[in-house]
Amino acid sequence: MESIRITGGERLNGRIAISGAKNAALPLMIASLLTAEELVLDNVPRLADVALLKRILGNHGVDVTVSGKRSGQADFSGETVRLAAPVIVDTTAPYDLVSRMRASFWVIGPLLARMGAARVSLPGGCAIGTRPVDFFLDGLKALGADIDLDSGYVVAEAPKGLRGGTIHLPRVSVGATHVLMMAASLAHGDTVINNAAAEPEVVDLARCLTAMGARIEGAGTPQIRIKGVTSLGAARHPVLPDRIETGTYAMAVAMTGGDVLLEGARADTLQEPIAVLRQTGVEMIESNEGIRVMRNGHGIAAADITTEPFPGFPTDLQAQFMALMTRAKGVSRIRETIFENRFMHVQELARLGARITLDGDVAHVTGTERLKGAPVMATDLRASVSLVIAGLAAEGTTTVNRIYHLDRGFERIEDKLGRCGAQIERLASSS
Ligand code: EPZ
Repeated sequence: MESIRITGGERLNGRIAISGAKNAALPLMIASLLTAEELVLDNVPRLADVALLKRILGNHGVDVTVSGKRSGQADFSGETVRLAAPVIVDTTAPYDLVSRMRASFWVIGPLLARMGAARVSLPGGCAIGTRPVDFFLDGLKALGADIDLDSGYVVAEAPKGLRGGTIHLPRVSVGATHVLMMAASLAHGDTVINNAAAEPEVVDLARCLTAMGARIEGAGTPQIRIKGVTSLGAARHPVLPDRIETGTYAMAVAMTGGDVLLEGARADTLQEPIAVLRQTGVEMIESNEGIRVMRNGHGIAAADITTEPFPGFPTDLQAQFMALMTRAKGVSRIRETIFENRFMHVQELARLGARITLDGDVAHVTGTERLKGAPVMATDLRASVSLVIAGLAAEGTTTVNRIYHLDRGFERIEDKLGRCGAQIERLASSS
């Protein structure tokens, strides 16, 4: 099994090109199920989750073709992916595929809206919490679907098509907002989604659906209004830059010190983390080229955060921020409100010498001068990358094992950090 070995202590200097956002690419690819015409996505990141979704969509009848980098394109430009589903050959999403990636459950919305039927395996639990699907099912029922549960599968039917309705999400859910927005785009009549997620990835999906002919207003606010149309057509859409990758590298630079331009990063998708990093003493300069991150000469100040839906501090940056706070001056308080079990990195950070105590949904991190390298591993993507960040500042060698989690969400992380001076390499087997 592959691992990543880091020898800590190097400052980061240079440029890192930010890839397309995994969490935008996935729902955008799923949107191809809504139309018989071709959807072309540019700047799709090369990630394990994207590769798996290509397989899952192929199973439903989507033809997926990929063209790589063209001459003249930047080094890390993503792929151009063409998705066409003239015919849906199968409306079942089986357990062995859905259980590997929760977002594949989201095919339920487009399949039901286009075909009037979908049979999709329940995703099951995952490392960061139970993650139920009740909001999806209640929302689809509000759009007129009949829903049954059968042997671990959700069986959804709307033989005469979905109809518009009013939905109130009990709490903000990114996935439920994506799915209901896609489903309502092909429903008869008008839909209102209240307490909708306002995440930039939702806005990106709404833009793409609009380019395909959907009529959507209010994406990016808590109320999304959709007027159903009878069919959607072809479109071409670039995937927005990854705000979580951006924030992760910003925290890496904050951790090691140095000066790095995060090329193509969009500051408007990251206002709260930028404000928090400035509080800790990091300089962040926003420009047309991206975001420049600098920390020179002085230490990191402690700051408190609470994870919240957008525009609050994202849960997907909580682990990375905790890694940063292990080196801060003073005590920081980190509260996780989105997922109930997203602190698996705590035990592993402790192996590097971090001082963290847990009290329910709050972690108290007491900064320490020294972290010391050790073998570590993590069971989710963001937790894994937090260990990479800690390893960049730890004395000696840190080996991060089980890095298939990293490959799910970070494109060529060792290349990107290595080019900025980090001593980091991928090993074929853990050592
Ligand atoms: C998306 O997950 C992201 N995944 C997650 O990123 C991210 O952490 C999360 O949004 C929050 O920002 C993708 O975009 C592919 P939710 P999602 O529905 O949509 C509860 C990463 O590391 N809930 O917004 O699955 C749920 O349990 C990943 O890239 C219900 O109770 O998250 C959670 O507590 C991990 N019932 C809260 O809502 C439901 O039916 C928010 O979850 C649905 C959700």
